[in-house]
Amino acid sequence: MKKIKFSEITPENIYLKRRDFIKKLGLSTSSLMIGQNFLNNAYASTNSLEPTEYRYISTYNNYYEFGTRKSDPVEKSQNFKTEPWNIKIDGEVENEVDISALEINNMFKSEERIYRLRCVEGWSMVIPWMGFSLSKLLEKAKPNNKAKFVEFISVYDPIQMPGQKYPILQWPYREGLRIDEAMHPLTTLVTGLYGKKLPNQNGAPLRLIVPWKYGFKSAKAIVNIKLVEKMPTSSWMRSSPREYGFYSNVNPNVDHPRWSQASERVIGSGILSERIPTQMFNGYGDDVANLYSGMDLKKYF
Ligand code: MTE
Repeated sequence: MKKIKFSEITPENIYLKRRDFIKKLGLSTSSLMIGQNFLNNAYASTNSLEPTEYRYISTYNNYYEFGTRKSDPVEKSQNFKTEPWNIKIDGEVENEVDISALEINNMFKSEERIYRLRCVEGWSMVIPWMGFSLSKLLEKAKPNNKAKFVEFISVYDPIQMPGQKYPILQWPYREGLRIDEAMHPLTTLVTGLYGKKLPNQNGAPLRLIVPWKYGFKSAKAIVNIKLVEKMPTSSWMRSSPREYGFYSNVNPNVDHPRWSQASERVIGSGILSERIPTQMFNGYGDDVANLYSGMDLKKYF
């Protein structure tokens, strides 16, 4: 029999507070459990979308270009040069785009988007990103009808990035999305955090956030976005295809071979970090489940 750990049970006072809050909003529990509408004010939908403190978001990171310990990115990325920075959008497009991060910031208005980041390692944070829908930038490049997938390529600079001296992953870091996932309004090009400039350790100057997928789909320090015909192989798929699939949608029913995905530890919620159940599509099912209708998500993990 599977033992339930003490930390997996929501303490009663938190549960009751949540129910009270839901009643005040006049909503049913089930309508809240299904997910958030991206246009809603994220604060209003559940009180569990209260942002994690800045000090956790900016010191507990995964960014293997700077090392594999959680503290490596903040410790080793402070002198990383993010200016000047150019990003190229090419491949199956009518207009190749070569644009600087500065121009992007002037051309597209960033807004606050509070999304939960769920890491495949079993922890999560709620992060008030600044950014805009990636689709706006992709539209400038006019993808042609052969563009079925989008590949994201992070910077390669082993002089500035000590982790790239080791073959921990295939460098540069690569990720990919299907074109309809990339064009979805929730898919965000991130330019800032907590109303400020994006810290280097969180992927400055430009990184992606795909809120219904595990954190590793959200590439940091992007220099190239390629529209392609065939499904790209991400760095994680290349390192361990059995463990990391192309889709990597947050799914409590499909475990990673080494870790359960049924619940998650909420970073910053005290010494005995609260564990909460992981939601299908990280809680964004209302907005994105239709992208996968008819697909076997156990097979396409
Ligand atoms: N992007 C690059 N270029 N390199 C990385 O190692 N790690 C990924 C993702 N993007 C990573 C990356 C993983 S595993 C996670 S969980 C998130 O970034 C972490 O984002 P955060 O540190 O801003 O919370």
